[in-house]
Amino acid sequence: MEKLTGKTVLIAGATGGIGRETAHLLASSGAHLFLLGRNQAALEALGTELRVSANHLFVNDITQAHDVESAAARIHAEIGHLDVLVNAVGIGIIKPLESLTNDDFMQSLNVNLVGAFNLLKAFLPPMKEQKKGLIINLPGVLGKTPMAGAAAYSASKYGLNGMLKSVREELKRTDIRITNIFLGGTDTPFWDTIDLRVQRDKFVTAQEAARAIWFLCQQPSSGVVSEMVLQPFNHQAI
Ligand SMILES: NC(=O)c1ccc[n+]([C@@H]2O[C@H](COP(=O)([O-])OP(=O)(O)OC[C@H]3O[C@@H](n4cnc5c(N)ncnc54)[C@H](OP(=O)(O)O)[C@@H]3O)[C@@H](O)[C@H]2O)c1
Repeated sequence: MEKLTGKTVLIAGATGGIGRETAHLLASSGAHLFLLGRNQAALEALGTELRVSANHLFVNDITQAHDVESAAARIHAEIGHLDVLVNAVGIGIIKPLESLTNDDFMQSLNVNLVGAFNLLKAFLPPMKEQKKGLIINLPGVLGKTPMAGAAAYSASKYGLNGMLKSVREELKRTDIRITNIFLGGTDTPFWDTIDLRVQRDKFVTAQEAARAIWFLCQQPSSGVVSEMVLQPFNHQAI
């Protein structure tokens, strides 16, 4: 396993359930963190807990390409390129088609797909110059298996999976690794606004999901874990 000490890692969605646990684990292993989220108070509180300096905290909406580019410019001016980009941003709008609005659909695509595209466009070029880096995204099980009510979410996550697989083909002559994690239900605030009867106590925990990311960040670059599937034991969909 490669050491995390001093590795430069951006966690987008650091204020969320999985992002926050990942930030804790990576910080305790000595990674050099940059944290991005929308909720300023939550981001600053996390920064204080983990002793991440204020100029490594980015209050950004990743659907805004220009803001993501500005954050990337600041980070690259300081460190040249990231070792690892973790995209733990996402929203879950789960509704049957008859109640799904155009806004719901566009918002799902904007955050889960266009936002991921914006991160890729901003952070990949310096990795390409160095021919190395690791990019981790979380399409989730619904990025490759259908579920009733997930038309908008799955459209965004199948798209995310497809986009990253396609970009991987462009990076074959480099040591840039792209890992897509297919998580099943994970107990985080993601589920707070979803009107679906689920047994959250049977879900994967945010800590377990974060441990998977932590593990991936330590894999040697001689190989690539292109996909990882982590699901609740009693609820395996793929
Ligand atoms: N939980 C699950 O069951 C599950 C399963 C499979 C895959 N996933 C995926 O795993 C990822 C993390 O999910 P989670 O469970 O940790 O969800 P979460 O607790 O709801 O966290 C979501 C994160 O996304 C951020 N975010 C949302 N919209 C944003 C935007 N426009 N710009 C920047 N940040 C934005 C939130 O920031 P603020 O809080 O600061 O607004 C928060 O940090 C998501 O991609 C999700 O789709 C989750």
